[in-house]
Amino acid sequence: MNHEEILSKIYATLTRGTADRKSPLHTPTIATIGADGSPNARVIVFRKFKPEQRVLIFHTDLRSPKIEELRGNARISWLFYHPNEKLQFRIAGEATIHSDAGDELKLKQWQATWNFGRRCYMGAAPSLISENVTSGLPTEIVEREPTTEESEVGFPNFAVISTKINSIDCLELHNQGHHRSLFSWDENGELQTNWLTP
Ligand SMILES: Cc1cc2nc3c(=O)[nH]c(=O)nc-3n(C[C@H](O)[C@H](O)[C@H](O)COP(=O)(O)O)c2cc1C
Repeated sequence: MNHEEILSKIYATLTRGTADRKSPLHTPTIATIGADGSPNARVIVFRKFKPEQRVLIFHTDLRSPKIEELRGNARISWLFYHPNEKLQFRIAGEATIHSDAGDELKLKQWQATWNFGRRCYMGAAPSLISENVTSGLPTEIVEREPTTEESEVGFPNFAVISTKINSIDCLELHNQGHHRSLFSWDENGELQTNWLTP
């Protein structure tokens, strides 16, 4: 495959990964950089891919530590591995936090969430130390789905993080020898392609 064909395959694979909840690409790892310079990686749900804009999207709680990290340093890395396709993607980019009440993307993504999923944003802030084991959820919704009206309390805590892709490092595993390609875009959106030794 040439670079153009590989990039089309990457885009098609990512597109399937957002749509298919069972895809291994649906729950990638994202890494951010802490205030002390330490890397911090965690699994998230891959919510949306906009290939024409080179944008990847996930949802999070505005009160979570990764928000502070992204405010300090917007650089973000996404890591995907598809065992059947034998493909690894390492995607680097710049994150934007969409958290204002009037933000169009935030509103659109909120409207696309189910009430059950909105519970994540209705309780205690994430990453707080607790004396006892806790789900952080308000007790009245531990065992049931909130109503749409109830779920709205989570809206201010809901944030959408979009990542503008700067580069994609793609590793294809093959029995006859692996192949690795690098796609990088400059500030003008010009694409540069390279082969790398695996
Ligand atoms: C399968 C899975 C999916 C997850 N999805 C998300 C997600 O979409 N957004 C999110 O903020 N955290 C998600 N988490 C939780 C994060 O991995 C992490 O524990 C949490 O966000 C706290 O991260 P932080 O302290 O670095 O901010 C998910 C965890 C798992 C195991």
